[in-house]
Amino acid sequence: MAQYSRVAGSVALITLQNPPVNALSAAVRQGIVDTVERALRDPEVNSVVICGQNGKFCGGADIKEFGRQMSGPPLVPMIHAIEAGHKPMVAAIEGVALGGGLELALGCHYRIAHSKARLGLPEVSLGLLPAAGGSQRLPRLIGVPAALDLITTGRHVTAAEALKLGIVDQVTDHNTVDVAVKFVQSVAGQSMDSRRLSTRPCPSLPNLDAVFEGVMQRVRQSARGAIAPVACVQAVRAAATLPYPQGMEREKELMGTLFTSGQARALQYCFFAQRAVGKWSLPSGARWDTSKAMPISKAAVIGLGTMGRGITVALAQTGVSVVAVDTQERQLAEAKQAVSGMLERMAQKRGSAPPLGLVHYSNNLQAAADADLVIEAVFEDMALKESVFQQLSAICKPGTFLCTNTSGLDVDRLASHTRRPELVVGMHFFAPAHVMKLLEVVCGPRSSPEAVATAMQLGKKMGKVSVAVGNCPGFVGNRMLKPYVEQANFLLEEGATPELVDQVLEDFGFAMGVFRMSDLSGLDVGWRIRKADKLTDPSVPAGQPVRVRQGRRYSPLADLICEQGRFGQKTGQGWYHYDKPGGRVARSDPWLHSFLEEYRARHGLVARHIDHQEVLERCLYVLINEGFRILDDGIAAGPEDIDAIYVFGYGWPRHRGGPMFYASMVGLARVLERLEHYHQAHPDVPHLQPCRLLRRLVASGSPPVQRWREVIKRLHSQL
Ligand code: NAI
Repeated sequence: MAQYSRVAGSVALITLQNPPVNALSAAVRQGIVDTVERALRDPEVNSVVICGQNGKFCGGADIKEFGRQMSGPPLVPMIHAIEAGHKPMVAAIEGVALGGGLELALGCHYRIAHSKARLGLPEVSLGLLPAAGGSQRLPRLIGVPAALDLITTGRHVTAAEALKLGIVDQVTDHNTVDVAVKFVQSVAGQSMDSRRLSTRPCPSLPNLDAVFEGVMQRVRQSARGAIAPVACVQAVRAAATLPYPQGMEREKELMGTLFTSGQARALQYCFFAQRAVGKWSLPSGARWDTSKAMPISKAAVIGLGTMGRGITVALAQTGVSVVAVDTQERQLAEAKQAVSGMLERMAQKRGSAPPLGLVHYSNNLQAAADADLVIEAVFEDMALKESVFQQLSAICKPGTFLCTNTSGLDVDRLASHTRRPELVVGMHFFAPAHVMKLLEVVCGPRSSPEAVATAMQLGKKMGKVSVAVGNCPGFVGNRMLKPYVEQANFLLEEGATPELVDQVLEDFGFAMGVFRMSDLSGLDVGWRIRKADKLTDPSVPAGQPVRVRQGRRYSPLADLICEQGRFGQKTGQGWYHYDKPGGRVARSDPWLHSFLEEYRARHGLVARHIDHQEVLERCLYVLINEGFRILDDGIAAGPEDIDAIYVFGYGWPRHRGGPMFYASMVGLARVLERLEHYHQAHPDVPHLQPCRLLRRLVASGSPPVQRWREVIKRLHSQL
């Protein structure tokens, strides 16, 4: 809806009304069309101000209408009518002007923003482009380079930056509508010809072709297969090279391609999945809306290695006071320097003071006594963690939540070493913890709803996408990663190279292939876990590995690499070669290739040609299959949870929507058929055996991903 009123005698005030962000629903668009017409007709009115109710100008398209048949007046002619109007129109921007909201404002003759407002064209993040003239008007207003930056990244800008770029004409700290009303009166009666962006030429740019070529190359590289950023560049190029009407035709044509591509559906699914995971529920019946989160003002972090430092920074950034504890004096001193450095660098970027005073350091666990919540991040060693939890249970005040950052150990077993198992949950952060968006909140069978709610809420406050998951080895993310890495190793045994496997996965859109990723995280981590799991059997002499462990196929390749002291980037050698320890650029390593050849010869393995399809299917379908097992086991509540984990924590390309969404796009019957095929070829690999839930979903006609929860519920109720 849009409300019409007359203010200051001759100004029509049009107020968009659609809480919470006055999105452009069909009713709002109709309201704007009607009220603009009325204002233009009304002889008493000589100027118009458009604003949004409750301090929000307009958040853009109405997400409730996504995926539905379009109804109501379309945006393009509506914005044209505003721009063509013979009476001055001013957008009074408070709160947000995003997407279609900013496009509406660009149709107005002037834009006045409140100093706290944020503006942007985030369509690209939903697989689209600003197709209500935004891609054509913005470059005409602020020039090609700035418009390309905003449109291809979708980033939001502050009112101050918008003023500097020329998107808005004025910024105010006062009541924006009052300022706009006063302003519009001062220009009433003037010609608006020079203010219509569609009639302006794009500011000229020397070397236009070279600029676009450079930008296109950069965008293609960072888009990793996503087509929307590329289409955004093409649309801006049209603005720079074509007259406005033809530019609009091109915008429409590009939008049509994006709409039908499937990538937009995947990105919109991710958007909804991110919201869905906040509405968590547990098999116990505990839910997000009935569980109370406790406020956390003081936290303790135990163990200040890679993870503990990042977690400390992330907490302090949120305004939580932190006691940072490490029993090793050297580690403590190094951590102090590293944490302060990180906080200072981040504050410098923001132009604010670093919250150094919020962090206190200690070498004594006793310092955690009065913390509201403790996050343990000591070495991944069960006995050590058990002892730390035992001590914390005795030291901490009653009611302190005890959390562990373990990447896969049994949270329930740790809880059993405390006097308050109901206050124990996993808070599994990802490295680097102050940057990575994902937090797995691991709920043990005894974790109280309050403990889960508190960890989820704290994660949200820290800017994380928090996903509640059940307790099992590796939880969700790492449990699915295990068979994926395993397949990659099997492929090496059969004839592939790390370069081939990584190339296929990176072409798919992963930020890093599996081997480059393993080199980055450190091969010794997994080696230590396999040793603890007795997989690197000491009875098997080094260099004489057996390719079967615990009755199933096992590849000792990674263990052999570690035995050579090749731990990845940190040692300068792993699956690849690096210039020096800590080097970042992975180079193909002839040593590794001859090592693989010798290994195959020793085991009588004949290298065969492995094509891209096999690499992709075996790596991805085995991971997806584990995802179905996780759903069947109730470790994740729904496919959205798994997909959010993979998109925000494991570099899964967002334009492919997450592994479970991807499976639904490929077709569940196809995934099942390929898994059956590979399992037949490799009967000693149980992970390739299609899971019961996948079979069941195929049998029920492969319903869309949004309906899987119902099938799971039915399946479980029949047990
Ligand atoms: P790290 O080896 O870098 O640091 C561990 C720290 O704990 C060391 O500074 C050590 O001095 C300290 N420590 C050991 N015993 C202690 C005690 N009794 N009291 C206080 N401090 C003690 O380890 P990292 O990589 O930070 O891992 C920590 C935990 O986080 C592990 O459980 C790991 O599985 C998990 N994790 C690690 C990730 C990674 O990428 N490194 C990702 C997610 C979780």
